[in-house]
Amino acid sequence: MYYKLINQKFEDIFDHTPFLSVRAPGRINLIGEHTDYNHGFVLPAAIDKAIYFAISPRNDQECKLYSYDLHDSHQFSLEKIEKSDKGWANFLIGVLAEIIKKGHKIPNGFNVVFGGDVPLGAGLSSSAAVESGMGFALNQLFNLGISKLDLALIAQQAEHNFAGVKCGIMDMFASIHGKKNSVIKLDCQDLSFEYFPFHAPDYTIVLCNSGIKHNLGDSEYNKRRAECEEGVKIMQNAFPQINSLRDVSAQMLRSQSDKLPSIVYKRCKYVVEEIERVTIACEALEKDDLVTFGQKMYETHEGLSQEYEVSCIELDFLVEQTLSLETVIGARMMGGGFGGCTINLVKTDAVDTFIEEIQTAYNQTFNTELHSYKVNITNGVEEIRKAQVSV
Ligand code: GLA
Repeated sequence: MYYKLINQKFEDIFDHTPFLSVRAPGRINLIGEHTDYNHGFVLPAAIDKAIYFAISPRNDQECKLYSYDLHDSHQFSLEKIEKSDKGWANFLIGVLAEIIKKGHKIPNGFNVVFGGDVPLGAGLSSSAAVESGMGFALNQLFNLGISKLDLALIAQQAEHNFAGVKCGIMDMFASIHGKKNSVIKLDCQDLSFEYFPFHAPDYTIVLCNSGIKHNLGDSEYNKRRAECEEGVKIMQNAFPQINSLRDVSAQMLRSQSDKLPSIVYKRCKYVVEEIERVTIACEALEKDDLVTFGQKMYETHEGLSQEYEVSCIELDFLVEQTLSLETVIGARMMGGGFGGCTINLVKTDAVDTFIEEIQTAYNQTFNTELHSYKVNITNGVEEIRKAQVSV
């Protein structure tokens, strides 16, 4: 168990048992990509890959952070909270800073060790898991009384202000609100949500990690967001009532095609269609119609690749490989893009063959290893164990 390693490390470094252990999961997203910051719908779920935290309060104002995976530490005082030149530390510091900005009082410093098995840069939201776990841990540790929704919003602000990515709310929302065997249909306009049981006994969710890290992704991500905002701004001339692409129908968009720069039009077209697809996909899920659901996933990939242009040759290859397979009913790139994973719905009895064949094909084509994971849908961030210790 990963959390035992983290707890052990904590004991080795700080010489006492952690007060609190927390598990904060990564996420998948079944459908609804790049719709969250456009106030549309998303359909994510928390998964059995997570970041674990071991944490204790201190008697002074010092905060000591240790990254188990990077074997690196960072220390600062609550009296001087500022960005670090260590990128990993900023995810934690950012959450702390945003909590304080909201008016909460952090009375003492703390010791924390964290690490886990969410692969970095794979589109499984390791950073959101870190931020969500940190917020949850501080909330528990100091009884701050922050709601789950506010924890998600705090984590999002930390990502904006400390990591510089203008991400939507999906990743942290899923890490915090996840529910075993259910997907979350989240309306990113008013943040209302409902759980849908993900009932697919004959299918397994398989992720194929291209190994391409989306470094370029962050700046391109912000660019896509800006292009969508530009589209809304231009269309407001004709439709002053619209606030986001959520308020734009396919017909309204078509009527503005000559007013929008062609790139902006393509981006908006993808988003407007994707928002609609999530609704259709959810209706299909309610009817246990996984075939329709899978088709929508393929359509999403096509849009992300051709219109939103956030795919890459490796991801396109992985999706194309599944097109001729009867054992795969849906596949697409997942997350922000420019690398990371594809998500595949694969007939359970064919999973091992699928993985073996796609790994071989990938290796032959790109001369790199393809890591594949079968994932299960789990609860969101939670406390693992609490021990009363004197600090
Ligand atoms: C990243 C962002 C999310 C979302 C996805 C794309 O994961 O963090 O907010 O925009 O990309 O759907």
